[in-house]
Amino acid sequence: EKGGYDYFMLKEIAEQPKAVADTLLGRIDGSGTLSLDEVRIPDGVLREVDKVVIVACGTAFHAGLIAKYAIEHWTRIPCEVELASEFRYRDPILDQQTLVVAISQSGETMDTLMALRHAREQGAHVLAICNTNGSTIPRESDAVLYTHAGPEIAVASTKAFLTQLIACYLVALYLAQVRGTKWADEIRAVVRDLASISGAVERVLETMGPVRELARSLAGKNTVLFLGRHVGYPVALEGALKLKELAYMHAEGFAAGELKHGPIALIEQDLPVVVVVPSPRGRSVLHDKIVSNIQEIRARGARTIVIAEEGDEAVVPYADHLVRIPATPVLLQPLVATVPLQVFACELATARGNEVDQPRNLAKSVTVE
Ligand code: M6R
Repeated sequence: EKGGYDYFMLKEIAEQPKAVADTLLGRIDGSGTLSLDEVRIPDGVLREVDKVVIVACGTAFHAGLIAKYAIEHWTRIPCEVELASEFRYRDPILDQQTLVVAISQSGETMDTLMALRHAREQGAHVLAICNTNGSTIPRESDAVLYTHAGPEIAVASTKAFLTQLIACYLVALYLAQVRGTKWADEIRAVVRDLASISGAVERVLETMGPVRELARSLAGKNTVLFLGRHVGYPVALEGALKLKELAYMHAEGFAAGELKHGPIALIEQDLPVVVVVPSPRGRSVLHDKIVSNIQEIRARGARTIVIAEEGDEAVVPYADHLVRIPATPVLLQPLVATVPLQVFACELATARGNEVDQPRNLAKSVTVE
């Protein structure tokens, strides 16, 4: 049932191109128009929404953090992202014009369920993004957009994350379509690029040999840091979470702009630092800033592991290890940038002799608060 792979996680990483394609299937027509029939919240209600609040835990929370960039940029609706476990305890401001998006692979996470119940009690509309048909979270929501990742068995979430991202982009694009947006041309281009994104994920998977080798060489390390900016920041958080849960290593993700506000003090000789580099196209200011960050940490002895777009030559002189990912629209980069981090964590866990599919102390779905 592991389809020839040693672990479910490896199988699920390999299934990502299909999971991504399946989640897009039938939701965008030939003319680039989105039809999300399952989102039964009337367009009239969506037009009135004045705030989006995303609630989720763990990896699903990271998908939510990325969704915020897409939703705010394409729709100009303010979007908050909150850990579901914190949400109801701070008395959040919610009403009929709030769209709450609850993201959950299992659909059974108690923290997320309690958050959405609280939101509905306050009159908010709740849309679930979920991978498990008929589970509790979609049943208790006003509407559901299913991710079509297929069953995810490994405790560490991989293909569910990529499909959560796709679902989030679809929600953002759908809101933009319903409400009209000044980014119509950009949105058309993104919709076009989504059609080829599954192929881009496939290309990343084909080039993972050196990432595995690198991971094995780091098996004796205690700490790995991850840096990113913009949508690369949640990718850094996700890379760090994967490493904690699978390799039981101290791993932290930082927004690269925060380095000088404290974390740079952690840099020491030979410390592995993974840097997710934003596209040099688009927000090129960010790209240039992160290249200086890489220079700074390398000057202090860090071993730099740089994840950068094909054709980005500016990073080459400062990368001890360079991992190439295909060029994508800026907001879609997490779909390709996360994959090497999953492979990296999985291989490190194996090298350290850890149980990949069933890490210690963890359960696949956390049904207690
Ligand atoms: O089933 P859910 O998406 O609601 O689960 C949320 C988290 O428990 C989950 O993403 C967890 O962080 C994963 N083990 C991460 O790999």
